[in-house]
Amino acid sequence: MATLHCLLCGDFDLGEEAQWRQALAAAAPQARWLNLVEARADPSAVQAALVANPPPGSLQGLPGLRLIQSLWAGVDKLLADPGLPADVPVARMVDPAMNAAMAETALWATLSLQRGFFTYAANQRAGLWRTHAQRRAQDLRVLVLGQGQMGGTAAAALARQGYQVQGWRRDGTPLAPLLATSDVVVNLLPLTAETRGLVDARFFAALPRGAGFVNLARGAHVVDADLLAALASGQLGHAVLDVFHTEPLPAGHPFWQHPQVTMLPHAAAFTDPRSAAAVAMANVQAAIAGAPIAHRVDPGRGY
Ligand code: GLV
Repeated sequence: MATLHCLLCGDFDLGEEAQWRQALAAAAPQARWLNLVEARADPSAVQAALVANPPPGSLQGLPGLRLIQSLWAGVDKLLADPGLPADVPVARMVDPAMNAAMAETALWATLSLQRGFFTYAANQRAGLWRTHAQRRAQDLRVLVLGQGQMGGTAAAALARQGYQVQGWRRDGTPLAPLLATSDVVVNLLPLTAETRGLVDARFFAALPRGAGFVNLARGAHVVDADLLAALASGQLGHAVLDVFHTEPLPAGHPFWQHPQVTMLPHAAAFTDPRSAAAVAMANVQAAIAGAPIAHRVDPGRGY
């Protein structure tokens, strides 16, 4: 088989790139992996790019590029790059291990809200021995926003756990009536022009008083000032936030110390190279062969 030349680039953590290189070498032994500097030295050789939030403009000027495969599920940042070549297909990552991890995080957050475990943790820090009522899973109505790979997997896991699960997608179904009958809302929507700022004062006002909100999607879905106001008024009982407008969340942001906010450092679900490398390389092979590309992004739709 002819050697494949692929660009691998992104804002990888220490050790992450080595992990990808190892998994990709196993998935495609005939491929040669180039970093940005190597790709710039021989731009016409690059046939595919595997990217995780690459620097803006880094995919420009690669005339042989047949596929841009995101290693992230969410492609909002990638699509916002003005230097993204318009004529090269983009695919988002769909990794079954990542879907499973996201379902685990949705379960942890919902279970903790159901049983008040976040309150018990805060009480421990305050030296308080105090119990509260024990709710059953079937008493909790959970709304999952987004019915794609992650929303669908999370909703199924929550239903298996015994919760009353409803789903919503942006297909014209009115959201307010669903919010009115939800004790916990889990956000797994893609970030698009239509969903940016969706979680605002009106959104929180539509919930039953004291509801929980879990954001596992993107920070820009939420109007932070409205979330803080909803917590202050008691309209929102607790928020579990994995994602933020600016990441890392700046020091001094009110979320850091807020007693009704539980934070994760954008860690709800990582792409797992052990399974995702094969997913990515199957797509690269398809693109080179002129076959249909899986999970192709529609730039007009935004995901
Ligand atoms: C993580 O947020 C991703 O989009 O993969």
